[in-house]
Amino acid sequence: MKSINPIIKEFRDSLSLKRPADPGRPLWAGVDLGTANIVTAVVDRNGRPVAGVTTRSEAVVRDGLVFDYMGTMKILKFQVDRLRSKGFDIMNAAAAFPPGTMGRNRQAFGHILNGAGLEAVSLVDEPSAAALVLGIESGCVVDIGGGTTGISILKNKEVIYTGDEPTGGHHLDLVIAGSLGISIEEAEAMKNDPVHQPMLISIVQPVFEKMGAIVKAHTAIHQPEKIFLVGGTSSFPGADRIIARETGLPVFLPVDPLLVTPLGTALHAAFHAGAEQKEAANG
Ligand SMILES: Nc1ncnc2c1ncn2[C@@H]1O[C@H](COP(=O)(O)OP(=O)(O)OP(=O)(O)O)[C@@H](O)[C@H]1O
Ligand SMILES: [Mg+2]
Repeated sequence: MKSINPIIKEFRDSLSLKRPADPGRPLWAGVDLGTANIVTAVVDRNGRPVAGVTTRSEAVVRDGLVFDYMGTMKILKFQVDRLRSKGFDIMNAAAAFPPGTMGRNRQAFGHILNGAGLEAVSLVDEPSAAALVLGIESGCVVDIGGGTTGISILKNKEVIYTGDEPTGGHHLDLVIAGSLGISIEEAEAMKNDPVHQPMLISIVQPVFEKMGAIVKAHTAIHQPEKIFLVGGTSSFPGADRIIARETGLPVFLPVDPLLVTPLGTALHAAFHAGAEQKEAANG
């Protein structure tokens, strides 16, 4: 399982956009529209990450629903322009949607890609995108993002169960801010700073314990063998240990869990875009 980390690190390194693009090389993009971040990943025909852009996105997407359609499209267009200006000539793209997103809400993801100058060749649910990077067909993907914790159980590549609860990184910010008497922005900066994280663990521990209890409740029926943690909030040191303790299940935490779903979304565009999905994506 550790062998998945090199490809995530490769994607992280490619975010600097320092490596010049190889002209004419076919590329595929994957777009993850999150509550806290909009991330676009770019892979080549072999599925190697070659570029990426991340932009903080508060207020345009909330808990997986597109809240500000034009604002979201504007950020994505900025990312597309930036990648193209560096020579990454992207056109074919996939978008990830939260599991359980139906109908028009799901189609909105494809329309945003098209509006930003990309061709939406596929749409993929977030846990299935993550599973492509994790190299799993079955298991429980727990995505602790900015706004929510998503619990998805996969069996033979199918998502057989999903749950979503409104406890994410923002709640860590709230308890840190309240406890230390500082602003939410200051709390967020401290939370993500490795220097401060060790002294914050006692403050945030109850929130991670609650997340663990939520995951345990959602996994009671299907009883997966293992939990795979993704999403930015999973990066907080000790999160994996607390979730493992609360659920009684082994937990796998990749490096840079925030980057797993966007990278998997690009892999979906490169390898899994079928005619049917293309039709659905273009509405
Ligand atoms: N090193 C870190 N330690 C702790 N938290 C982190 C770290 N890096 C990022 N985060 C937090 O991760 C969250 C963003 O994660 P992610 O990008 O996965 O969320 P999102 O997909 O935008 O949100 P959602 O899935 O809820 O819609 C933010 O709350 C951010 O503060
Ligand atoms: Mg997310």
